Amino acid sequence: MSHRPDGIAPHGGQLINRIATPEKLQLFLDKAEYLPRVQLDERANSDLVMIAIGGFSPLTGFMEEADYKSVVANMRLANGLPWSIPITLSVTEEVAEPLQEGSLVRLDDAKGRFIGVLELTQKYHYDKKWEAINVYRTDEEKHPGVKVVYEQGSINLAGAVWLLERDPHPQFPTYQIDPVKSRQQFIDKGWKTIVAFQTRNPIHRAHEYIQKCAMETVDGLFLHPLVGATKEDDIAADVRMRCYEIILEHYYPKDRVILAINPAAMRYAGPREAIFHALIRKNYGCTHFIVGRDHAGVGDYYGTYDAQYIFDEFEPGELGIVPMKFEHAFYCKRTQQMATTKTSPSTPEERVHLSGTKVREMLRRGELPPPEFSRPEVAKELAIAMNIDVYEI
Ligand code: ADX
Repeated sequence: MSHRPDGIAPHGGQLINRIATPEKLQLFLDKAEYLPRVQLDERANSDLVMIAIGGFSPLTGFMEEADYKSVVANMRLANGLPWSIPITLSVTEEVAEPLQEGSLVRLDDAKGRFIGVLELTQKYHYDKKWEAINVYRTDEEKHPGVKVVYEQGSINLAGAVWLLERDPHPQFPTYQIDPVKSRQQFIDKGWKTIVAFQTRNPIHRAHEYIQKCAMETVDGLFLHPLVGATKEDDIAADVRMRCYEIILEHYYPKDRVILAINPAAMRYAGPREAIFHALIRKNYGCTHFIVGRDHAGVGDYYGTYDAQYIFDEFEPGELGIVPMKFEHAFYCKRTQQMATTKTSPSTPEERVHLSGTKVREMLRRGELPPPEFSRPEVAKELAIAMNIDVYEI
């Protein structure tokens, strides 16, 4: 891990900035009407932003074929640098056909708003099934990440990108802390070791426990919930953010946590996504990254600790961020505290652990999840968000 006066080195050594300068912006706006257009879906829109703000450093654009193939096959960019998830802009043959390699393409968001530019260098076909099996470890269409791959166009457009402007997030402007800013905040706070926490679910006590175990050994926590696209039955980002605000207010020391949003889209790629999540947080300036049970998993596609084992496929120091691995945590009735089998002698009957699905079922029945699972203030917030009449409120 390489430390510099401005913190840990970004992946590849340099923090990428692909937000158009005022001169470039003007140039692009002048050409806007004449450029061929591609409309981005929510994921590609997130990817454009992540590239532009340096969250995906060293990527400067959507992957060319050599990087794409190398990432899918070997979890490395063509130059050998670790990278586990393909970052591609996939379009239909119809959309790709008129686009000329070597020209500029206008990138519009889902509402048709001009938001970025692609310097198109390559158009290439790719093998969806091969990508699915390698990246997601399954080719089943019901896997939400595979589904996206199967439904997208069959041609990848590649090349460097520019984001026209970095707009404040419409819902969470105060939590929009991009890598340049998070790095500065860590310096201002004097934090040298920072642990990042990825999440896409409302916070429960197992989350809190592993965060706090990690916080005992580092200078600060970078709480970094993902607010990009998630699957439909995941809890909405605004509800999750409110739960975070509530729990931070009551249960965390204020000066040891920074809450910020991660604009990336969820892939549900389990182990491969754990590596990806870690590299993103390295770019935000974090030195450590929490990987618990079934990180970024879905259904039973991945083994409980596969997302931890995958870190062993890299040489020490190659990733440049240290994984902090935690076993499945639960509330232990015998010792009356949160624990894992590493610290508790409990029998399975003495453990309280609930899945997200079980909690949703309880809320629907009008019951609050027990305090052993969720802080009551958070449980109430979830119930209110789900429009549920809960007896205890
Ligand atoms: S994820 O898709 O972002 O991984 P989630 O928000 O549920 O989903 O998990 C955030 C982090 O907490 C992940 O590192 C995950 O492995 C970890 N985690 C979730 N629940 C537990 C638990 N009961 N015990 C240990 N780690 C957990």
